[in-house]
Order: sequence, then structure tokens, then C-alpha cells
Amino acid sequence: MIAIYRKYRPKVLADLIGQDDITETLKNAARLNKIGHSYLFFGPRGTGKTSAARLVAKTLNCLTRTTDNKFHKEGEPCNRCTACEEIDKGHAIDVIEIDAASNRGIDEMRNLKEHIALAPIRLLKKVFIIDEAHMLTREAFNALLKTLEEPPLHTCFILATTEREKIPATIASRAQRFQFKKLPIVKIVEKLEKVVSAENIKTSPHVLELIAEAAEGSLRDAESLLDQVVAFEGSSIELRNVEHLLGKASRNHIMKLTHLILSSDISGVLRYLATLDEEGYNLTQLTKDLIHYLRKVLAVKVDPALLSLFRNEVSSDELKTIEEQSALVREKQHIALIKSLIRAYSEMRYTPLTIVPLEVALIENLKTNT
Ligand SMILES: Nc1ncnc2c1ncn2[C@@H]1O[C@H](COP(=O)(O)OP(=O)(O)O)[C@@H](O)[C@H]1O
Ligand SMILES: [Mg+2]
Ligand SMILES: [Zn+2]
Repeated sequence: MIAIYRKYRPKVLADLIGQDDITETLKNAARLNKIGHSYLFFGPRGTGKTSAARLVAKTLNCLTRTTDNKFHKEGEPCNRCTACEEIDKGHAIDVIEIDAASNRGIDEMRNLKEHIALAPIRLLKKVFIIDEAHMLTREAFNALLKTLEEPPLHTCFILATTEREKIPATIASRAQRFQFKKLPIVKIVEKLEKVVSAENIKTSPHVLELIAEAAEGSLRDAESLLDQVVAFEGSSIELRNVEHLLGKASRNHIMKLTHLILSSDISGVLRYLATLDEEGYNLTQLTKDLIHYLRKVLAVKVDPALLSLFRNEVSSDELKTIEEQSALVREKQHIALIKSLIRAYSEMRYTPLTIVPLEVALIENLKTNT
């Protein structure tokens, strides 16, 4: 495995995707020499919090910051000086990463306090990156609070967490807070495209879309899924195999099935389901995906402006198909269809003959419509 998520970690703030407000603010702070002494980065996993924390450590310590005009123009680390290099390699002794999930005790925090009192050894600033900060004990939070109340000039604290509400208000209010967001499918696909092209991996847009979808907004998850797929498939990746590996059907099947349903082509629908069944697709999961898809079609039927709600979760092809198909449906019938699929879905989970409830629901529905 090539550990894509490590190899392709953002090197400059501009590489950090989908968090534009945050990157702009951090770049400006760097340019104007106004980087804060404590930050709280919160948001879903795999969206760039740890990466951003390391980038702050680099901009604080990059040796070009005092000498170079480029730094003051761009607010980006140079990635060439010894400070940048050490931090990139994870060797910098003045950048202290603490995983609060495994260092929860008061002792660690006591050590930390002693650590904080000492000036940095090699770098300009000592940077403490506390990951999974919500896991700190109350004692540890208290110790941290004391430090944040009177932060030594040579330190910067960056707390990262997926659970913002578990950080005491006293701590949060002393930090600059940045909310990281899930990444839109389109942006995840864009980064995966760069990775596969750099790694000479042969694949198709549908494969990358499927991986991006399965990652549910986390770029790290997308990159590790790609890693796993490459480990199984080598450098040439087939959609069918990825579907199998992820236990997830590509959206094409959902869109095609919806097309057949909306054309009231009962025999076409049954044939298609039989083929998918034969090829080993998980029909229960497929039904769930279908329901989600039809729900989007319904929403857009009710109000076309709602299409923008789904811009983040679906590919641009899918967005277009949702729009087209929503123009074809009649609201009442469509609602009945979704309801019977929901019923079928719960029945499917309790029968070994998964295909039957699905077939029956669709036949029943399409018959009453014709
Ligand atoms: N916003 C992003 N832009 C670019 N790459 C990202 C982003 N978020 C995550 N990644 C990728 O995922 C990996 C892990 O991200 P990380 O910063 O550790 O996420 P978090 O700390 O939010 O869980 C990074 O090395 C990078 O390859
Ligand atoms: Mg992290
Ligand atoms: Zn540098």
C-alpha cells in the first residue's frame, strides 16, 4: 500500500480543499504576522484539521517569514527551509502532537505544563497540536485552561476535534474557532483524479465517483478506500470489482432503474433486477440507495431550487439526471412509490428472498399507474 493519505497531505494552505474561508483567514494571518496563540479546529473526520494544524506550525516557523517578500505576499510556508522540512517529516521537536485519545491523564497534562514553560529549542515557536481534544479529562482541561489564560509568547495551541460540543466553553472561548466542512463529491473526485494520474493508476470517472460517495465527505476515507482498491486491483481498476469491494452499486444502476420505473417498463425493471441479483449486487443496499435517490427527485419536483441542496453529495451527471427525471414524475404517484419501497426495504431485511418484496412493490406500483 502506498498510504495515499500520507503521501498527498496538503503541503501549502492552497492544497487544502473545500475549506476556503479557513485557508484565506490563515493565509492572511500569516501574511500580517497575526497568527493567534490558540485555535480550535472542529468538524467531521478526514476534512483537513490535522493537516491545517501542521500548516499553521509551518507558517509560524518557516524561516522565510522574516526575510522573504514572497512569504508576506502569499502567507504560505516555503517547504524548503530546515524548519518546514523538519515539520513535514514529523521530526520537529518543537512541534508537539498529542493524541488526547491515548494520553488522557493529568500526568500528561502536567508534563505538558512543564513543556510549555520551556522556550522552543530549534524553532521560533513551540506548537502544540492536541488531536481528538474532546477526549481530554476534566483535570487536563483545567490545566490547559490555566495555560490558555496566560499563554507564553513562544507557544501556539491548536486543538482539533470531531466533537465540538464536548470542549468546555471556557476553553473554546479562548481560541479562534474554525469549522471544517464535509467535502463535496465533486471536490473529492478532483483530488482522487490528481492522485490516480500521479500514481499511474488506470481507472474511470465512475470508479472515482463511487469511492467519493462511499467516503461520505471525508477526503481521508476516500484516499484510504482508493488505497484498498489499489491493493486488491493493482494499477488497473474495474468498476464492477470496486462495487464488489465496497458492497455498493454505482449510481448508474440507480439512475437506470429509475429510468425504467418512470417509463413504467415493468418487464424491463424485472429483467434489470434479475441481472443485478445474479451478478451478486446487494439488493437491500440497492433499495436503500434507490429510496434516497427518489427522495431527491421528489424534493426537486416540489421545488426545483432544492437541487442546490444536493450539489455537495452527488456528481454533476447525477445532478442533471435528477433534474431531468423530476420533470417526468407526478407527485402523488412518486410519493406512493417511495412509500412502498420503504415498506419493501424493511421486509427485505427479514427475508432470505430479498428480491421478492422489491419486485412485488414495483409491480404493484407500476400496475396501478398504468
Ligand atoms: N481539506 C482537505 N484538502 C486536501 N486533502 C485533505 C483534506 N482533508 C483531508 N485530506 C486528506 O486526508 C488526509 C488526512 O486528513 P487530516 O488533515 O488528518 O483530517 P482530519 O484531521 O480532519 O481528520 C490528509 O493527509 C489529506 O491527504
Ligand atoms: Mg486528524
Ligand atoms: Zn520554510
